[in-house]
Amino acid sequence: MTVSRVNVDLGTRSYPVVVGHGVVGEIDSLLPKTAKRAVIVTQKEIGFVVKPKIDSTTVLIGNGEQHKNLQTIEMLSQKFAEIGLTRNDVVIGLGGGMVTDVAGFAAASWHRGTPVLHVSTSLVGMVDAAIGGKTGVNIDQGKNLVGAFWQPCAVVCDLDALKTLPEREMRCGLGEVAKYHFLTGDDLLALEMPQRIARCVEIKAKIVAADERESGGRALLNYGHTLAHALERSSNFSLAHGEAVAVGMIYAAHLAHAMQRISQARVEEHYKVIGQTYGLKVKPDERVNRKELIELMRHDKKAVSGLTFVLDGASGIEVVSGVSEKHLEQAFDAMQLSEK
Ligand code: GLY
Repeated sequence: MTVSRVNVDLGTRSYPVVVGHGVVGEIDSLLPKTAKRAVIVTQKEIGFVVKPKIDSTTVLIGNGEQHKNLQTIEMLSQKFAEIGLTRNDVVIGLGGGMVTDVAGFAAASWHRGTPVLHVSTSLVGMVDAAIGGKTGVNIDQGKNLVGAFWQPCAVVCDLDALKTLPEREMRCGLGEVAKYHFLTGDDLLALEMPQRIARCVEIKAKIVAADERESGGRALLNYGHTLAHALERSSNFSLAHGEAVAVGMIYAAHLAHAMQRISQARVEEHYKVIGQTYGLKVKPDERVNRKELIELMRHDKKAVSGLTFVLDGASGIEVVSGVSEKHLEQAFDAMQLSEK
């Protein structure tokens, strides 16, 4: 069976992303040579196991965004101390995006930086969250506001883990795949799953290699994410990330149209790709509170000079700052989002 190896090219911190069925069997060769023990950070619900040859201890964290917080980092740090984890050892993040974000941040902070290897078990994780070194947790004021860039030493995307992934989570992954469709124009659904994931990894690896710390092109990976993060928060995370990204891209298209950056036909194309081709919801089921969403969007990490969005336009998708509330309202109206 095909195994793809994509290199995330970051000089001395470069690392492989291994994609294929059964590739978790390669884990020992991917661990740092200095590691004598591993702490596997995972969740009870993850039905996938890793068995490194070195000594390992498994530590469970809670399931759901409400556990993606500083208390979980404190708990992990206390476990690392009890286990005697050193900076030469390794943390293994085994799970979806929430697990790898938390395990990565705990590793980044432990002894000011301990290696981490991610074994991604969700489609969102494989095509996005586990790659590129963004780690972090949420605080009451916003999602992922506390974190660090901490690149893993390797990422394992074993497609066997997807066999038990709930359908809703697969759809969430498709939300991120659809994002790459708009960033590159690639027909990703034409590819079989292993090649599709590997292609998404290649697209992301190239963007990360060019702009590791998001001072330019990497911000484009946030297409659809400004509204998405706000929707996730205001729904108390009952709307999942990938679902929110799909709706967020539709909103971004309406916003770009309201700002006369794109035609109505291009807005329709967003509906066609997201709604029909990818089969994703283009609107949240619940009513929304626009004022709350606008407030949350103001606190988005990208909002350094006013309300900031990643928007489509004549020269492609780009970061646009200083978006007016009038245009935000016009986009809400065009989407016919019912108010709470
Ligand atoms: N998930 C967006 C990024 O890694 O930059």
